[in-house]
Amino acid sequence: MTTRRQRILITGASSGLGAEMARQFAAAGHDLALCARRIDRLAELRAEILAAYPDRTVVVRNLDVNDHDDVFIVFRALAAELGGLDRVVVNAGLGKGAPVGTGRFDVNKETLTTNLVSALAQCEAAMEIFRAAGDGHLVVVSSMSAMRGLPKSLTAYAASKAGIASIAEGIRAEMIGRTITVTTLYPGYIQSEMNDRVAQATPLMANTVDGVRAMVHAIDREVAEAAVPPWPWRPLSVVMKHAPLRFIRKFA
Ligand SMILES: NC(=O)c1ccc[n+]([C@@H]2O[C@H](COP(=O)([O-])OP(=O)(O)OC[C@H]3O[C@@H](n4cnc5c(N)ncnc54)[C@H](OP(=O)(O)O)[C@@H]3O)[C@@H](O)[C@H]2O)c1
Repeated sequence: MTTRRQRILITGASSGLGAEMARQFAAAGHDLALCARRIDRLAELRAEILAAYPDRTVVVRNLDVNDHDDVFIVFRALAAELGGLDRVVVNAGLGKGAPVGTGRFDVNKETLTTNLVSALAQCEAAMEIFRAAGDGHLVVVSSMSAMRGLPKSLTAYAASKAGIASIAEGIRAEMIGRTITVTTLYPGYIQSEMNDRVAQATPLMANTVDGVRAMVHAIDREVAEAAVPPWPWRPLSVVMKHAPLRFIRKFA
């Protein structure tokens, strides 16, 4: 069975949203290229997927997205292994952060580097492959945090996610009328390792399977932008864009 956008590369596939996207895309008939630093987790995920769907092809690679030269090398190698890439999901990310001016430039810089500069490297590597093929679907995992500047430990994270959403929009603008499409996802709270600690604290947290189902649905429709899951995040995204800062500061 072949599917539209048959060959999908996902970064940050060793846990959380990336791993569950891999499971759901495999169930829908896609072949996968999966990368992350925890190669043992990727090997386990590959074995799990192949046990359920023996006809799928799943290739895995160790990749630290902050090694930017390696991003290009690994993307090209995975494309060669699968005979091309039809969709790339720029998903690897982290959520560290501290209030600006409190001595933790190191963690804020790490977040900006991974979520913005390294995400740009992934967009560059993906778009090189798509431009050469004349086709492809670039998917960028931003965040609801991108809607506004956010206070305290979320300041660097929100900026990184706004930055990568802007890069995706710029590529999308250039690609209007072409066969290459660009989707930006703005997830709300979806259960994963990243937000283990907030899991109990908010009733807005979606479970991983349902949250990722909404992501996969938006990806398959190749929409330009989507708040996921749509309820309650689509209306909340409008509220976040227009609410006074006094309200926004309660988010952290
Ligand atoms: N869950 C949510 O509620 C939520 C909401 C909005 C946006 N997001 C975004 O969704 C994406 C996935 O996050 P998640 O919630 O699934 O968190 P997660 O479970 O912590 O997964 C993060 C993934 O990113 C990978 N990663 C982190 N740094 C990396 C690096 N330097 N090189 C390569 N891979 C790296 C991790 O793999 P290794 O550690 O194995 O390398 C892991 O697979 C992130 O971009 C996050 O910002 C999540």
